[in-house]
Amino acid sequence: MKTIDPCTLLLFGASGNLSRVKLMPGLYRLDSLSRLPADMKILSVGRQQVSREAWLAEIEKMVRDKFYNGIDEAVFKRFIERNHYHANPPDDPNAFQNLSKTLGNESVFPQNFAYFLSVRPSDFAMIVDQLAGVGLVDESKYWRRVLIEKPFGTDLPSAQALQASITKHLKESQIYRIDHYLGKSALQNIMLTRFANHMFEPVWNSEHIDHVQITNNETLGVGDRTQFYDSTGALRDMVQSHLLQTLALVAMEKPKDLSPESIRAEKIKVLEAIRPIDTNNLHKQAFRAQYAAGKVPARDGHLEKVPGYLEELGHDSVVETYAAIKLFIDNPRWKGVPFYVRTAKRMHEGNTAISIRFKKAPVELKQGQQQNWLILSIQPKETIKLEIQTKVPGLDISTRTLNIDGPLRQPGDESIDSYETLLLNLMEGDPSLFLHINEVEAQWKLIDPIVKSWMEDKGPVHQYPAGSRDPKESQVIFESEDQFWRYSIELGGDQH
Ligand SMILES: NC(=O)c1ccc[n+]([C@@H]2O[C@H](COP(=O)([O-])OP(=O)(O)OC[C@H]3O[C@@H](n4cnc5c(N)ncnc54)[C@H](OP(=O)(O)O)[C@@H]3O)[C@@H](O)[C@H]2O)c1
Repeated sequence: MKTIDPCTLLLFGASGNLSRVKLMPGLYRLDSLSRLPADMKILSVGRQQVSREAWLAEIEKMVRDKFYNGIDEAVFKRFIERNHYHANPPDDPNAFQNLSKTLGNESVFPQNFAYFLSVRPSDFAMIVDQLAGVGLVDESKYWRRVLIEKPFGTDLPSAQALQASITKHLKESQIYRIDHYLGKSALQNIMLTRFANHMFEPVWNSEHIDHVQITNNETLGVGDRTQFYDSTGALRDMVQSHLLQTLALVAMEKPKDLSPESIRAEKIKVLEAIRPIDTNNLHKQAFRAQYAAGKVPARDGHLEKVPGYLEELGHDSVVETYAAIKLFIDNPRWKGVPFYVRTAKRMHEGNTAISIRFKKAPVELKQGQQQNWLILSIQPKETIKLEIQTKVPGLDISTRTLNIDGPLRQPGDESIDSYETLLLNLMEGDPSLFLHINEVEAQWKLIDPIVKSWMEDKGPVHQYPAGSRDPKESQVIFESEDQFWRYSIELGGDQH
């Protein structure tokens, strides 16, 4: 367990949805696990004038809504006492001076400051500017760290503009760019499974691997986020960071040690080695679609009728709710191995997984004999599954697929939310699970040309019925005819 210096966590946007659902309950949980230093304080910063009393009542609601009866009252009392509120009215020119004055009370607020910017992305740069203007990011005596929520830019130029703006005041070591996927235990397990076992490394290359699929499918639609979604799309929402980060963990070389610098250096190398998209042949490398009306499984298992994306949006749009792309990594390990990265809303099942198909076996007893698959499933179940061919007992020689399927979770294991891990890492000063600017830039460089081409192409976008499987047309991106989309990891897993 790492030690954490006494510090003050400043939460900008503490009244917002993220704070309500994840951050405040997460901080309470860290306190209940005795992971917060005794004298750590939390200062919520918001536009409204709210008394401390009223704010504490608000926090109580956030925490109790999440944990119902599972509250330890002694811990809760300790947690509540850590909390303070500071009003920062947007029209007050002295707002940040006043914040500095409040924080200057050293008997209440430890002087190492961690800023969590859970606000609109358009406010990130302004808040850093204002904090710097009153000396609140100066590290000459204490550490000062700034966590930036996602997205870090909406394309390469805007990411670079944000970077230029905040690095006027901050060193790279002070900046914590979040991708909450990296806080998931199952994601961290990818690297551990690869490197804490001898058996994987010798086969983890183009000599043995046929292709890799990185999938995030949901049964949900865009819900009430239509305006946000229509300005973003599946590619930017899921692929640009979450799925490319997953790819980096699958494909990176072994870091020389487990320091944050070494891990991030290897991720940067592999992201920068992905071959740029050839936009002249985009249709062979990328496929997009939108869900039309259809039926999806509801919570109680029944099929529920749902409208299509354009009906929900209320106007025409070429923005994709399905995106599948094929990537190649130009390094010796992955020469010629396609990585298929796909994400979709309103599919027949929700599934986040890495599916790795191995090459054909040296002995093929029948045509179409299944190849080995290794599946690292992240959602709905955290499991590792290996499919191998074994002999069917009996007089004849024939094979069938044996599924070796192991849950990553054992009864009694802790269930930690990714934000709890990331909040702790921020206070510990461990940036391993945060993005370096070079990773962010490499990701936008790859994605921008596809987004641009798709935006410019105003032709009709392929429609798939809600609740269906991948559109057949998406198979145009496969390298060979025997490749197919992997679905659920249940025994016998589906295929086309
Ligand atoms: N919600 C999620 O699950 C989620 C997931 C991933 C990323 N994020 C990112 O996390 C950040 C916060 O998300 P959120 O869903 O919590 O946002 P939110 O609820 O819309 O707003 C967060 C806070 O921003 C302030 N705010 C809202 N509208 C404003 C306006 N017009 N002018 C100035 N301030 C305004 C409010 O704080 P005060 O009124 O107290 O000042 C509000 O509590 C965003 O950057 C988002 O992209 C959120």
